[in-house]
Amino acid sequence: MRIMITGATSGIGRALAESYAKAGHHILACGRSQQKLDDLVKQYPNITPLCFDLTQYQQYPVIDKVDWPLDLLIFNAGDCEYIDDALHFDAKRFERVININLISVAYGLQSWLHLVRPGGRLVMVSSSAEMLALPRAEAYGTSKAALTYLAKVLSIDLAQHEIEVSCVHPGFVDTPLTERNTFAMPMLMSSEQAADKIIAGVAKGKRDIRFPSVFIFLMRCLQLLPFSIWRRLARRINR
Ligand SMILES: NC(=O)c1ccc[n+]([C@@H]2O[C@H](COP(=O)([O-])OP(=O)(O)OC[C@H]3O[C@@H](n4cnc5c(N)ncnc54)[C@H](OP(=O)(O)O)[C@@H]3O)[C@@H](O)[C@H]2O)c1
Repeated sequence: MRIMITGATSGIGRALAESYAKAGHHILACGRSQQKLDDLVKQYPNITPLCFDLTQYQQYPVIDKVDWPLDLLIFNAGDCEYIDDALHFDAKRFERVININLISVAYGLQSWLHLVRPGGRLVMVSSSAEMLALPRAEAYGTSKAALTYLAKVLSIDLAQHEIEVSCVHPGFVDTPLTERNTFAMPMLMSSEQAADKIIAGVAKGKRDIRFPSVFIFLMRCLQLLPFSIWRRLARRINR
């Protein structure tokens, strides 16, 4: 297969790139860090690096469909910053998170969707955070809820072009992104475990890929609570 992966220099994206490369697939790996991309390419000659900032549309490389008809286009890159003081709302912080988690996906769709061959698949890495209104997640949760909605609409509109869409909702995964968290992260899994779940879900043609299952079950139970009760619980968690 020919696979493009954004955010391939770290965490889940890197684990996906390595796993697909080991299996002999051809990878276009996007990231900002030239050093990390060089390291990947040194290990796997079937990885082609693309070093640029996904939030800067003018930096998007033009890719030839003849050379790269894509079987998989994986939008994985993302970041998380919390809104620590909702009263003094930090719009710049909100903008940064929305730009990388959501707007960059729109840039990527405009630049690369035409490369995906009929029978190919888009994969959007959202988050289980979009399942509930979580304290301090005004930016992150909003970006992932919007991304989940976008994935569903694209799944409807791209069906006529024989392009499928999978949306991924991981629980906590041990990566540089979550290393910054100061709170407990139940059922934390490794990037490699997360990549295995994504690869298996994609191979089965799943539209909705959620893991780990016990964590997702608990989130679904909390979703069933009336908002007034969840709000009380969430305020306690925040304290
Ligand atoms: N870790 C979790 O618990 C978890 C849970 C649910 C969902 N997710 C989602 O999974 C995805 C991957 O997260 P992760 O935990 O693996 O994070 P990570 O280790 O911090 O990796 C983030 C990746 O995104 C790239 N990236 C960030 N900003 C970029 C930009 N402006 N331009 C280009 N590339 C950029 C980084 O590239 P450089 O390093 O080269 O800058 C890096 O490769 C994210 O969408 C995240 O929201 C993660």
